[in-house]
Amino acid sequence: MNILFIGDVYGNRGREAVRDFLPSLKNKYKIDFVVGNCENATHGRGLSLPHYKELRSYGIDAITVGNHFFFRNESNSYFVNTPELIRPYNLISGTAGIGSRVFNVNGISIRVSSILCKVWMKDFGQKNIYQAMDELLEKEEKTNIHIVDIHGEATAEKIAFAHNYASNVSAILGTHTHVQTADEDIFDNHCGYISDVGMTGPYESVIGANIEQVIVRSKSSPNGPLDVSYSSPQFNAVLLEVDEEGKCHKIERINIRPGRDY
Ligand SMILES: [Fe+2]
Ligand SMILES: [Fe+2]
Repeated sequence: MNILFIGDVYGNRGREAVRDFLPSLKNKYKIDFVVGNCENATHGRGLSLPHYKELRSYGIDAITVGNHFFFRNESNSYFVNTPELIRPYNLISGTAGIGSRVFNVNGISIRVSSILCKVWMKDFGQKNIYQAMDELLEKEEKTNIHIVDIHGEATAEKIAFAHNYASNVSAILGTHTHVQTADEDIFDNHCGYISDVGMTGPYESVIGANIEQVIVRSKSSPNGPLDVSYSSPQFNAVLLEVDEEGKCHKIERINIRPGRDY
């Protein structure tokens, strides 16, 4: 089973990158299932229902989000009726949406889950990530293949979490920082890991935003305008090779950027 996991899709350029690169990647790597973190797909903040539908139409099978889940009020209503969308599992009870879902791919069940970190992250009332993951593994129906999006700022928090659950799941993939790390590995000879998959969106940017505006805000005007950058896109993802028992045999980084062949 070849699984592609796309890092945070950001704004218009991110959506265009998915549209332009995903079909050829699917063909080249014979990809069976695509997961995409799309928490920044709508102007860098959140995911609107039209953009959810747009990204699904480009071939993303399962969509995760993260802290930007909270930036769009309409999320609360439409997340209830979007069967391919996974919000963080460890949110307070009563939050709309579902944090772990099972997808059927050619007769094989794949679970996709999302966990929102706590270190250096805004407090949304998210539960301790270990308590939440223990609860998830205990309560939810077990599948051999299980992909976890660990959404957070601190690499150490993500690495420790991954070591703790490496024998339980097929992959633990970091998102949120928007910068692809080069530490892809297979933990416990079973679980694919990377601290951050990286961002799919404008390449010449500060993690997606307009460079000049970020500098002005940092120097002198913290409340100055901040827009999405419209530079040419980059596409960041990892490719996983997972067997039917749920063991990950290979994790490979994909980093497409302007001027670089892929
Ligand atoms: Fe993000
Ligand atoms: Fe985030």
